[in-house]
Amino acid sequence: MDYIKLKESAIKASNSSYAPYSNFHVGASIQCKDGSIYSGCNVENRSYGLTNCAERSAIFNAIGDGKKDFTAIAIYSPDSEYPLPPCGACRQVITEFCDGNVLVFFSGKDKIFKMLLIKDLYPFDSLHDLKKE
Ligand code: THU
Repeated sequence: MDYIKLKESAIKASNSSYAPYSNFHVGASIQCKDGSIYSGCNVENRSYGLTNCAERSAIFNAIGDGKKDFTAIAIYSPDSEYPLPPCGACRQVITEFCDGNVLVFFSGKDKIFKMLLIKDLYPFDSLHDLKKE
């Protein structure tokens, strides 16, 4: 599978980015096992630390619609000179909901996506045993 729709959704989502402080626009999309796709963009705030990355926006949109099983995530920024992988905080959030074999596609302005497994981007994952339900 080439995940073309997923990548296109991430590119489209970057158009909605709210990034008046960094001027760095990001879009992300996550694909569910049922084939549905949820997208999100980075949403900045004048209190800078409240900024939400595109990856987390996409995941929270999916979770809010009752989805929990994912196969792949795509990230795109028209403002990045290099393929933009998820930040550390987003890697942690991705691994909350995705097993290690979930695919991560990431691209900068040239729209050439690199692909890695989340377990390679986030090794030594931990603390899943804290779940109570
Ligand atoms: N950002 C993302 O949305 N995803 C990433 O993977 C890296 C960074 C956002 C956060 C902030 O709005 C802007 O990009 C600059 O860091």
